[in-house]
Amino acid sequence: MKIVVLNGSPKGDDSVTLHYIKYIEKKFPQHVFTYLNVAHSIKKLENDLAFFGNVMESVKSSDGVIWAFPLYVCLVHSNYKRFIELIWERGAQDVFRDKYTASVATSIHFFDHTALSYIHSICDDLGMRYIDFFSAHMNDLTKETERSSLIFFAENFFESINKKIKTLRTYMPIEYNIGEYIPTEIKATVENKGQKIVIVTDSVDQTKNIGRMVERFRKLTQAELINISAIDIKGGCTGCIKCGFDNQCMYGKSDDIQMIYEKIRGFDIIVFAGAIKDRYLSARWKMFIDRSFFRTHQPLYTGKQIGYLISGHLSQNHNLREILQTTTEMDGANLVGILTDEYENEINEMMEDFAQNLVQFSVRHYIRPHTFLGIGGMKIFRDDIWGPLRFVFQGDHRYYKKHRFYDFPQKKYGMRMVNAILMTLTKIPPVKKTIRQNIKSSMTIPHKNVLKNK
Ligand SMILES: Cc1cc2nc3c(=O)[nH]c(=O)nc-3n(C[C@H](O)[C@H](O)[C@H](O)COP(=O)(O)O)c2cc1C
Repeated sequence: MKIVVLNGSPKGDDSVTLHYIKYIEKKFPQHVFTYLNVAHSIKKLENDLAFFGNVMESVKSSDGVIWAFPLYVCLVHSNYKRFIELIWERGAQDVFRDKYTASVATSIHFFDHTALSYIHSICDDLGMRYIDFFSAHMNDLTKETERSSLIFFAENFFESINKKIKTLRTYMPIEYNIGEYIPTEIKATVENKGQKIVIVTDSVDQTKNIGRMVERFRKLTQAELINISAIDIKGGCTGCIKCGFDNQCMYGKSDDIQMIYEKIRGFDIIVFAGAIKDRYLSARWKMFIDRSFFRTHQPLYTGKQIGYLISGHLSQNHNLREILQTTTEMDGANLVGILTDEYENEINEMMEDFAQNLVQFSVRHYIRPHTFLGIGGMKIFRDDIWGPLRFVFQGDHRYYKKHRFYDFPQKKYGMRMVNAILMTLTKIPPVKKTIRQNIKSSMTIPHKNVLKNK
């Protein structure tokens, strides 16, 4: 069988993910593997049509395609995203149609599910036959049990292709029906009450809905505008992790990224704007976001108010909404709202309420309690930075110590003592019986005290 591997790591042959596929290749020598380092070779794919054509030829002549990629900020790397955009821009979707496919991702399991959903939805949009995914922790290959899972996964993939199994479509096609957004005149600007507002966008194109939304919001709020398409970005994150020790990116001051991030961090209210391209924002946006990784696992926008202006069908794309909510929570900020052009005629009025909310929340320093996304995500970072990643991410370790992010339950000695006493008491049958009878009512004792005293 001919298997094509679309490698999504910017590290090319040095990719951790690629080693999982090489292991599969070693265990199944009867199949022929072709490795295409599409993320590493993105510039060549963009500039050399013949090279892009060769990649498409390999896919076309294959029996199965493996999307092999590392996680990059809840998704795939910006170069991989760009490769996906090129498939549509160059009308090459048919090359992928009906191909059997699967994905293999490596990560630290921080929002691996959103990246996997993204790739799965892209496969569905391309009309591929998606069999399964394998999401490995980056070091799983060193573990016997995980290796045997990987072998089973691969065996099932090959057998499914042989048997030509029926696959189900998980993600329905997006129904595109958004009309043209017509901005209305602004009667009065929104008072910013001393709050500094910035809009960060990848498009100011006035022929597009997003450009017009940005422009009207800018006029409405007198916000400063940063256009990430006009700034100097030398390239995508290379995954070198040189930033881990002291948060200095290997690009240094050779481009605008660090300076622009520092500038954005000086505002109280940050509104990000962009159009949905396939199932995420543009690859340019993704590059800008990936490059924020010089701050590694430290929150970028603590205490800030965040809003989004989005052009596109966000209501049909829950995965993207989850990613936006997650990154806001992980950044220690508050997601005030997401205004999309799906609202058509109502956008103008909504924009005023949206702007007012941003200001109001900022004045009151309101941070909505975080959800599982931020709370669960932070526990992964906390444990990994304290443990296996500490040596590489020393900057994070210093930050987590200073900002008391190491809130391990075993350090809560009062709680441990109460547990020890209560657990001993429950060994006495009559006490255990009384506690069991009162457990429900006793849960609200502290809340009743608050109602009485506060
Ligand atoms: C910039 C950057 C962003 C990352 N984002 C995530 C992430 O969102 N979730 C996660 O679990 N791992 C994340 N990782 C970890 C990588 O996915 C992981 O190390 C992966 O195994 C690297 O594979 P590769 O060597 O094939 O590129 C990130 C790493 C880098 C450098």
